[in-house]
Amino acid sequence: MDYHVELKRVTRVFAKNGEQIRALDGVDLAVARGSWTVVVGLSGSGKSTMLSLIGGLDRATEGEVWVAGNDLGKLSSDALADFRREKVGFVFQSFNLVPTFTALENVCLPFVPYKVARAQAEKKALEVLEQVGMLARANHLPGELSGGEQQRVAIARALVNDPELLLADEPTGELDTRTGEKVLELLSKLHRERGMTIVMTSHDPRIAEQAPAVVRLEDGRVVAHAT
Ligand SMILES: Nc1ncnc2c1ncn2[C@@H]1O[C@H](COP(=O)(O)OP(=O)(O)OP(=O)(O)O)[C@@H](O)[C@H]1O
Ligand SMILES: [Mg+2]
Repeated sequence: MDYHVELKRVTRVFAKNGEQIRALDGVDLAVARGSWTVVVGLSGSGKSTMLSLIGGLDRATEGEVWVAGNDLGKLSSDALADFRREKVGFVFQSFNLVPTFTALENVCLPFVPYKVARAQAEKKALEVLEQVGMLARANHLPGELSGGEQQRVAIARALVNDPELLLADEPTGELDTRTGEKVLELLSKLHRERGMTIVMTSHDPRIAEQAPAVVRLEDGRVVAHAT
């Protein structure tokens, strides 16, 4: 089986005030290419830590993290940064948009390190803004958009590099139920159309109920993995 993401006995220890916290403790995980996995668990169970390791934002203390055939622990910091930019899209609970940039400028941001010509970057950014239904708001600042609209802009920004893997950490966490459902519908549409692999975290048991694959974490350990 060609897994897109594989964790092998992954442990992440944080040292805090002389105390060691095992945020992840010997986790095994296999995510099929093109699948949609929801990671659930109580606050502090290790969900964000797991996404950060898969996305190359953080490194495992022990064990191996494999994504698209790369052993992330073996990559240099520069190679890891390239991996993140080219292969992964990130969506966060708090949108993380730059408040002084318009929606369009925010979506163009991932192109900055590549020095892509402005016209070319904007053309691509407008395409993805259209896909998420935000074309009409391209010139608005985040502060002029609702939470759901800001999250759609953040999703557009995550998609602008055509990532194979989308990681979303509580993408509906700051949205009301209805708006959250709309954001999920959008992710579902993008998943179908683009065939991307999605790994997202959620506190919401209803989201887990609808998910095709669920990973449940408790105190840094996987206690259930249903596909
Ligand atoms: N940078 C860090 N330094 C020290 N401890 C950390 C750090 N990041 C996470 N932790 C600890 O690791 C554990 C797992 O944290 P994590 O953020 O992965 O949980 P989570 O499941 O995402 O929780 P939440 O649902 O509240 O977002 C927690 O005990 C947390 O306090
Ligand atoms: Mg978290």
